[in-house]
Amino acid sequence: MTGETEILGESLPFEERIELPNWAHRKVGLKSYVEFHSASVADSAGQWERLAKELDWQRPWDEVLTPGDHPHVAKWFAGGALNLSQLALDRHVKGPRKNKVALIWEGEALGKDGAPVEVRKLTYYDLWREVNKFAFLLRSNFGMKKGDRMAVYLPMVPEAVVVLLAAARLGVTFTVVFSGFSAEALASRINDLGAKLLVTADGLFRRGKQVNLKDIADKSLQLTRTVNQVVVVRRLDTGDTGMKPGRDYWFDDLMRGAPASARVEPEPLESEHPLYVLYTSGTTGKPKGIIHDTGGYAVLLHATMNWVFDIRDEDVYWCPADIGWVTGHSYVVFGPLIEGTTTVIYEGTLDHPQPDRWWQVIERYGVSVFYTTPTATRMQMRFGEDFVKKHDRSSLRLIHSVGEPINPSAWRWLFEVVGEKRCPVGSTWWMTETGGIMISHLPGLKLLPMKPGTNGLPIPGVDADVVDDDGEPVGRGQKGLLVIKNSWPGMPGAPTGMWGDPERYAKQYFERFGAKNYFLCGDYAVKDNDGYIWVAGRADEVLKVAGHRIGTFELESSIVSHKAASEAAVVAIPDPIKGEVPIAFVVLKQGFSPDEELRKEIRLWVRSNFSPIAEPSQVYFVNKLPKTRSGKIMRRLVKAVAEGKPLGDIATLEDEASVDEVKQAYESLTVS
Ligand code: WTA
Repeated sequence: MTGETEILGESLPFEERIELPNWAHRKVGLKSYVEFHSASVADSAGQWERLAKELDWQRPWDEVLTPGDHPHVAKWFAGGALNLSQLALDRHVKGPRKNKVALIWEGEALGKDGAPVEVRKLTYYDLWREVNKFAFLLRSNFGMKKGDRMAVYLPMVPEAVVVLLAAARLGVTFTVVFSGFSAEALASRINDLGAKLLVTADGLFRRGKQVNLKDIADKSLQLTRTVNQVVVVRRLDTGDTGMKPGRDYWFDDLMRGAPASARVEPEPLESEHPLYVLYTSGTTGKPKGIIHDTGGYAVLLHATMNWVFDIRDEDVYWCPADIGWVTGHSYVVFGPLIEGTTTVIYEGTLDHPQPDRWWQVIERYGVSVFYTTPTATRMQMRFGEDFVKKHDRSSLRLIHSVGEPINPSAWRWLFEVVGEKRCPVGSTWWMTETGGIMISHLPGLKLLPMKPGTNGLPIPGVDADVVDDDGEPVGRGQKGLLVIKNSWPGMPGAPTGMWGDPERYAKQYFERFGAKNYFLCGDYAVKDNDGYIWVAGRADEVLKVAGHRIGTFELESSIVSHKAASEAAVVAIPDPIKGEVPIAFVVLKQGFSPDEELRKEIRLWVRSNFSPIAEPSQVYFVNKLPKTRSGKIMRRLVKAVAEGKPLGDIATLEDEASVDEVKQAYESLTVS
């Protein structure tokens, strides 16, 4: 095995097999799982149909899978009608879950006694009433109806859940924009989607500091054409929110003004109705608006909440992802609530005010199912075991991780220190486009032996594989490209897969292997002798920084929008905590001199004009960048220099001196 079968420099333990005696009831042998899986793929329509029958439909479907109006955009459960707000609320309030706690929300601030200053618990009935009210307001005060679009730019507050479920209730397609994104990023998403209404907040707390979100939203509204109504959640209440009369309305004022008996029947939505559009980074500067539908998406969430999380009524489930990311949509809001579980939302950062905050949350609410990330795990490892061990974690029974490859030692730490060797620990592979988990251990169904760092085998019904450049399966232990060979419910949905751009959707994901029609995930992966998949990182121009997905081109365009920068090349270098971090090589315009001040300014520019998560960890100034003769920047060479690796083929390089430039610039700051 080569260095390609490493994660963060740790070699992958292909032959290690860990079994849990306390999970013997779910134990399955490899041969038996492979047979079961092959059968599930052979009859995937039958499998998904059986699962769909477990949900409440307002109208049954005619066919499980039919072609849509565009290539590769299939319709799942066409003819059927359902509503995710009904699945997440109405069907629970009709039964014994009516007064079960649906949502536990904890604010960031701790009081002098060490207890959280703000905790809100909403039962299913509470949440149902709130959602009805807000849906009523959306319809009666703002004229929002099925097919309209709205944007949501909110921090982790309970209102975020209310807003998403209210939109879903009416069939208003929403897009959530991460509250760490800039005004420009928000505006471009609003414009692309044609959102009529924006829901935001006056601000948020981050590490005890107040961040004014409304200012950023106001700035973005100057760049948009479609939004003329804004609802503002009061989180800071500083008194200087700059509410614009006739455009801006306080969420709490509106809710107080709505009749307590406000009810809105969940709109019967066609199964292929777009529930939301989530913008994610791709290989061009323009983010892609991935569409998720209603029926197929619900079925995938229902399946994975059970297979992957083994979710049960007595569970307290916690996934600290932000609602701005797909994990927040699928596995903080919709998945857990559809299953009638209790989902925990914590507003703040994991080390505020002390590094044991997460373990406090687990102890305080008796969290049993925990869904975390490799970066968070590596941060916690650095703080040390004592912070974990001083809190009771006996409630924990299952742990998964997501967002980036998990290095074996981080996996071991979750398994041994956090879960005390009692809990299955998995690394669930999926992406914004897939809507839900695709490759994972399945403690809720059949549990194979675990291996530290693997993703495991594909879930039932999903035919994922690792292939070479011709689309043929690679040999065991070989690196290749991860593909999904068949359709699955929850895949990018009708009408166009990617909002307004069916051609780009088809080209981006399906053209690579021609007639084979494989879905190209964009990741490198290795398959071991048991067929376990180990996703090793992105194979394209997408960076994964602390699990956040950032497009190289987007970041470069943000840099060159600074007045001093004429060209930029961004590459990622490995980072022991964040997995990888971006560094930028920048060519300056005439008249600007490369100094420390400017370096800082460019980093700050990215923070405020794109997002703090995208800030380059270093900026290097060069006179020219390595390019092909046709003028394309050769990032591959820049990356090789930064990683001290061989340059490989440089036949198309226009000017060899540019590589030396990069080398010198890199060394001047690194060798100190
Ligand atoms: C990476 C996040 C290895 C991968 C849900 C993928 C992972 C990208 C894992 C999608 C994992 C996600 N192991 N890599 N368990 N989970 N990834 O769209 O590179 O933000 O393509 O969705 O994250 O990122 P996205």
